[in-house]
Amino acid sequence: MIKKGVTYDTAHLEGFVSEKDMGDIFAEVKKAHAFLEKRNGPGNAFLGWMDLPENITGSLVEEMETTAADLRSNSDAIIIIGIGGSYLGARSIIEAFSPGAVGKKIFFAGHNLSGDRLNALLDALRDRDVSVNVISKSGTTIEPAVAFRVVEDFLLKKYGPIGAKERIVCTTDGEKGALREIAREKGYKSFKIPADVGGRFSVLTPVGLFPAACAGINIVDLIAGAKDQRELLLHCNLGRNMSYKYAAVRNILYRKGKRIEILSSFDDRLHYIDEWWKQLFGESEGKGGHSIFPASCDFSTDLHSMGQLIQQGERNLFETFIVVEKKEERCSIPRREKDVDGLNYLAGKQVDYINRKAYEATAEAHFEGGVPNSTVLLAERSVYCLGQLLYFFEKAAAVSGYISGINPFDQPGVESYKQKMFKRLGKPAIG
Ligand code: PA5
Repeated sequence: MIKKGVTYDTAHLEGFVSEKDMGDIFAEVKKAHAFLEKRNGPGNAFLGWMDLPENITGSLVEEMETTAADLRSNSDAIIIIGIGGSYLGARSIIEAFSPGAVGKKIFFAGHNLSGDRLNALLDALRDRDVSVNVISKSGTTIEPAVAFRVVEDFLLKKYGPIGAKERIVCTTDGEKGALREIAREKGYKSFKIPADVGGRFSVLTPVGLFPAACAGINIVDLIAGAKDQRELLLHCNLGRNMSYKYAAVRNILYRKGKRIEILSSFDDRLHYIDEWWKQLFGESEGKGGHSIFPASCDFSTDLHSMGQLIQQGERNLFETFIVVEKKEERCSIPRREKDVDGLNYLAGKQVDYINRKAYEATAEAHFEGGVPNSTVLLAERSVYCLGQLLYFFEKAAAVSGYISGINPFDQPGVESYKQKMFKRLGKPAIG
């Protein structure tokens, strides 16, 4: 019996998405499902993510955990270098479950080109013991490549080549690419990114799992959650396959003029899940002149900034909420003898209870204001449930992309700016 991790509530779609709409789109969902099942759709060389939760071996998990434990014991700072799909998954898991570690034990670099930020980071770590995990499938992405050169230099000066070698872990393609070559040549410890898994679908490889282990997160639970969710999504049935239902809903709404999807959670520890989701859907679907613009908000914070626009701006929006069902009851409202702030009616209540009411009120108000919304419910804020959620969204992105008639697994558009940038930088032609 699979533990309940993710459910999908569509109550606030009434009047926007009908039974007939769902029936009409079902043929397209079935086609998308068949593409995935038979592995014969566009981009089928990159379907390795589908079976990752099944295929990951106990020995790889152990190797990641042991290596992470070594780094944790010999370092008080671990720098994770990577960008895009080689960054956001790891960060989303760590921020959700080890938010206090970020900026204390875990640091991120190589996700931008700010020399000042990199300098400041290394200045701050000068007197601390530092290790690094550099992640790049291609090994040639400029942001992590530049950051790694600088950080490697820092480690070489601090520890010498033998000491530095103990502190560098590379995560990259198994065979090819500059980072694989560096790891081979210098004998750095390395993990492989499977060739058939693209960046934004790689969270359940060492790309996401190893940094999570470095932050002390139980990756076995994460994989177990993804594995169970995979089981739940094997069949093409819109009544039971909630990931497919979500994919269908967003396409129905898009076709009715809802061009922007806002993913919002009521817990800012999930902020980087939203960032990961934005890349997953934006890069998978934004092509061929087609796209649902994936936006995100942190509620209730952004209700005080974006709330006005969502309630009364152009009606081209729909929302998806992520809500954690089981509350963490740790902070209650004290009673005051003199009720000057008028809060005694809440005395003894948990802050999370108010948060829940804020979600219910927001979903209802936005719905009444013409913003259809649905909710992905996490049974609890646990690593297991996060594993379910990650897989839920990955499968939805694949199916949604196929429904849109595009290849969800490529990203040809990201090359355009790179070519122009390399020309300006005077990068020599290869060969
Ligand atoms: O999803 C993708 O393919 C991209 O976001 C890449 O992950 C990102 O550009 C980083 O690429 P790499 O891992 O090759 O450095």
